[in-house]
Amino acid sequence: RNSFETKAVKQNIQSVACLQPKVQASFKVAVLGAAGGIGQPLSLLVKMSPLVSDLHLYDIANVKGVAADLSHCNTPSEVLAFTGPEQLADALKGVDVVVIPAGVPRKPGMTRDDLFNINAGIVKTLVEAVADNCPDAFIHIISNPVNSTVPIAAEVLKQRGVYNPKKLFGVTTLDVVRANTFVAQKKNLKLIDVDVPVIGGHAGITILPLLSRTKPSVSFSNEEIEELTVRIQNAGTEVVEAKAGAGSATLSMAYAAARFVESSLRALDGDSDVYECSFVQSELTEVPFFASRIKLGKKGIEAFVNSDMQGLTDYESKGLEALKSELKASIEKGIAFANKQA
Ligand code: NAD
Ligand code: LMR
Repeated sequence: RNSFETKAVKQNIQSVACLQPKVQASFKVAVLGAAGGIGQPLSLLVKMSPLVSDLHLYDIANVKGVAADLSHCNTPSEVLAFTGPEQLADALKGVDVVVIPAGVPRKPGMTRDDLFNINAGIVKTLVEAVADNCPDAFIHIISNPVNSTVPIAAEVLKQRGVYNPKKLFGVTTLDVVRANTFVAQKKNLKLIDVDVPVIGGHAGITILPLLSRTKPSVSFSNEEIEELTVRIQNAGTEVVEAKAGAGSATLSMAYAAARFVESSLRALDGDSDVYECSFVQSELTEVPFFASRIKLGKKGIEAFVNSDMQGLTDYESKGLEALKSELKASIEKGIAFANKQA
């Protein structure tokens, strides 16, 4: 049995299911974009964490009502609302984990890169405030296109002299959540046991599930590998089309982001067995930012799980080579944007 993701899932389920806190709540979390489709359910799930003492909700609109509503839940954290640029600094002071789902979502027919023109500027502005007010926090970037917004965040932090590559994360947990769900369904496995690492990036072919690394060990036909890989790569679009203009994944994303927050808090709390996939600065390949499984600790990334990358199948190796040029171009686009604006 794997000790990576299964443990994380079980612990998340336990901590969310039993609302009686068994651990000391002591961490401060800020959600930027907290009144949005992801922000609201994500804030609810974070409010249920026994590890959180303070939950700061920031948005440019409608956040007071969300905070008033959430603050009535009898879980440990105190919920505070912050609205507008003038309150952003206060939202961030003393925060341990900052989660950023601010920005516009896709509509049918759009790619994630089509969101760049609006979301790049939003992420840049918010990360500037993070750099000035809580430079030591774990930073979780959800806003798309993740393949570009994470490099933008890195450049902004460098410009302010506070970049710590061990603490900047592109949230790709939803790709893992989807891979686990689809594989469990296809192979009739118990969901809680299934763990599929997903590497690369977070758009189209840059999303590369390593089905050969599935735990528990399971064999797939070539047709199953092709079908599952394509479904995982297109799962975001599947939701965008089903929502027919009303946005993209919000509930499954909130679930996935809450899991990544909980894993980060457990790592900060001293748990020495926390593993997640995330899009981070990386030397695993020649692409400077790359999603892979990492070990989290008190200081952020403690180690890269290099073994996932060894002995890839031909299908996975071809997928890896095919994604590199698109991923590099998206990264360079983000870096150029951040430096042009500087
Ligand atoms: P949404 O439109 O429902 O919510 C976005 C929220 O951001 C709104 O409340 C809006 O007021 C707020 N906002 C906009 N500009 C802001 C600013 N400057 N400061 C603070 N808040 C601001 O959108 P959503 O469905 O919640 O999606 C948000 C983003 O997450 C999109 O870019 C989407 O593509 C992305 N997303 C990423 C993943 C992933 O796996 N990483 C999954 C799903 C969605
Ligand atoms: C997802 O994977 O669901 C998100 O990146 C949102 C999108 O636009 O697909």
